[in-house]
Amino acid sequence: MKNYIKADEWKIIEEGFDAHYNKISESIFSLGNGRMGQRANFEEAYSGDTLLGNYVAGVYYPDKTRVGWWKNGYPEYFAKVLNAANWVGIDVVIDGEQLDLAKCEVLSFRRELNMKDGYLKRDFHAKTASGKEVKVEAIRFCSMADDETGAIKYTLTPLNFSGAITLTPSIDGDVVNKDSNYDEKFWDEVSKATQADGGYIVMRTKKTGFVVATGMKFNILQNGVAIEPTTEAIEKEKYVAAKFSLEAKQGESITVIKYAANLSSQNYKQEELVDQLNATLNRIIAKGFDTMLDEQAAAWAEKWKHNDIIIDGDVSAQQAIRFNIYQLNQTYTGEDDRLNIGPKGFTGEKYGGSTYWDTEAYCVPFYLSTAPQKVTRNLLLYRYKQLGKAIENAQLLGFKNGAALYPMVTMDGTECHNEWEITFEEIHRNGAIAFAIYNYVRYTGDETYLGDYGFEVLLGIARFWSQRVNWSDDRQQYVMLGVTGPNEYENNVNNNWYTSTIATWCMQYTVDVAEKIKATDPEKYAALVSKVNLDEETEFGRFRDIVQKMYYPYDEKRQVFLQQDGYLDKEQILVKDLPASERPINQKWSWDRILRSCYIKQADVLQGIYFFEDQYDIDTIRRNFDFYEPRTVHESSLSPCVHAILAAKLGDEARAYEFYLRTARLDLDDYNNDTEDGCHITSMAGTWMSVVEGFGGMRVSNDKLSFQPFIPEKWSSFSFHIGFRGALLNIKVSKEGVQIKNASDVETTVLVYGKEQLVKANDELLVEA
Ligand code: BGC
Repeated sequence: MKNYIKADEWKIIEEGFDAHYNKISESIFSLGNGRMGQRANFEEAYSGDTLLGNYVAGVYYPDKTRVGWWKNGYPEYFAKVLNAANWVGIDVVIDGEQLDLAKCEVLSFRRELNMKDGYLKRDFHAKTASGKEVKVEAIRFCSMADDETGAIKYTLTPLNFSGAITLTPSIDGDVVNKDSNYDEKFWDEVSKATQADGGYIVMRTKKTGFVVATGMKFNILQNGVAIEPTTEAIEKEKYVAAKFSLEAKQGESITVIKYAANLSSQNYKQEELVDQLNATLNRIIAKGFDTMLDEQAAAWAEKWKHNDIIIDGDVSAQQAIRFNIYQLNQTYTGEDDRLNIGPKGFTGEKYGGSTYWDTEAYCVPFYLSTAPQKVTRNLLLYRYKQLGKAIENAQLLGFKNGAALYPMVTMDGTECHNEWEITFEEIHRNGAIAFAIYNYVRYTGDETYLGDYGFEVLLGIARFWSQRVNWSDDRQQYVMLGVTGPNEYENNVNNNWYTSTIATWCMQYTVDVAEKIKATDPEKYAALVSKVNLDEETEFGRFRDIVQKMYYPYDEKRQVFLQQDGYLDKEQILVKDLPASERPINQKWSWDRILRSCYIKQADVLQGIYFFEDQYDIDTIRRNFDFYEPRTVHESSLSPCVHAILAAKLGDEARAYEFYLRTARLDLDDYNNDTEDGCHITSMAGTWMSVVEGFGGMRVSNDKLSFQPFIPEKWSSFSFHIGFRGALLNIKVSKEGVQIKNASDVETTVLVYGKEQLVKANDELLVEA
């Protein structure tokens, strides 16, 4: 755990330069706008430890999997969002000496992520080996208002000398992915050009054939006055730059304003890319840096209006929750239903930028409440469009008749995980995809989605489950063999309670949805039946039979659901009795030892209880929580939030807060020692859930929102924004009570501590404590 980020309500601040923290900071200070993003790499050269990262959403490469013994059903490749052309570079040479913080004495250094207005600012005072001192201030952002563009204002001032300074703004496409399986470079150059004030490169990804044009234009100012020095064009393989030299005077600044754009063949015809790129660059340079920055602040203000959480009395908690919300917004804006949310967003290479069950299980609640309805709908449509591939995936594994198995890891719907023994049997992901449909409809009331898209997905998933179970003559029940639950520290187990529970829930929900569509729109239903070739009697008959006769492991003595058959045969040593030196077990123990142990990586039984809490009484929830939490090592970032919400439900406010802290500052404090690989974006939605569903006790049932809030001891109040069926609510929980403001023309009835309250349009009310 680190503690070097300074507390501030709206900013993430690093003061002083410690090269050991550089890769961590590159992740934390990342920028993005849903369409593209980048790690906080320096503009000038840096020869120290760094992970270069620039990413264009949806542009990926199928990297052939490395494996010793190939087995049927093994994914051919691991798809990864590629490290793309680096557009931030501005090389600086002072009297023949390259400015490089790894080789300078850094006299002062400050990096600041301004979350309110959406930009990164860095300033430093450095002394080169020969004693030349310079001051640098760099501001940059990926534009939210114009999401194919970004800009940098880089100002350098010689402090103790006058002399020649050479600056080289560049676009460098000669980049690699650190996680490349065969050390391959993934891009081929298509074309490039340079002009006096800019340049571009067009590159094509190998195999997938995405073409991306990345270009720059720049202005130069000396002491604040625009100048036009002669530039020298430099063109190398996948690299363009324009170099210029100035006689700099002591105390007088030199500024490069660099405008950049990234356009991809996903959105333009390939032959139009260069023209469109030039038009974009001309448009933003005409607009100017300050206007772009104003637009950026306005776009962020609009986001914050719908999703800010204010915590009074705890700056560190305030900073943390905003950081989580900020990163989620940088990662996914919901504008494009071909895009999704990688577990690391645009902050690193890990998890390849691919889509996981994280989206449906963790991110959907955040976007449902804080973004327009179409944003979550787009996340659901992404899976709808991939239904054909999910059916193919299932066929490859031997399933038939339209059974669909969604991938655990994917870009385009094809399964592409690269951890055979763990991920292969995590078929529970299918359940989360169905649950997200239920969650969306429950939240929005948009039942037409079911007939238009949802039912087809549900049926494919239910068909899969109905074929995946088998009848046990011995038990006279259905069983589900050979699975891996959300707890990845158990592989190939029989009858994982969570998987079996979500499977039967899916089958029942599918039948219920079919009945609803049939009753409300018989014509549509008939068309669907024929489209999906449904034999209602036989198929639904089987679903119902499985729902009735499914086997779920249970321990009568302790009265808890059993994670899987045989779980209690394991040596039951609680996590508190594990020496700290043995943790995290995934770094300290062999996989063999982990698999034999009782330790749980993340919520598994408790994940099911979280999803279906209405089905269990409070004593059942408590018994299971008290049994499983002490065995949980929380070695997935997705774990603490579910525990925070359940602890809050059980009235254990202190534990709820403890779990919240662990998720909220996970990256800012580098809690798991892995932030340098990138930030844990999908679990950031879990942090939001901990506040809103945990401390706020928010739930949706029977078309209404309900709240059961409490205030963590350290806070004096907290408030959050919720959009619900047209109403825009701000809920503030303080010692006085619960204040609800409705900033919309739609009135709504909510439940606060179980009592109905009508919140009129553009009105507010206080439910006293
Ligand atoms: C978790 C999975 C998750 C993946 C990506 C793993 O560590 O165990 O549940 O889908 O990370 O976030």
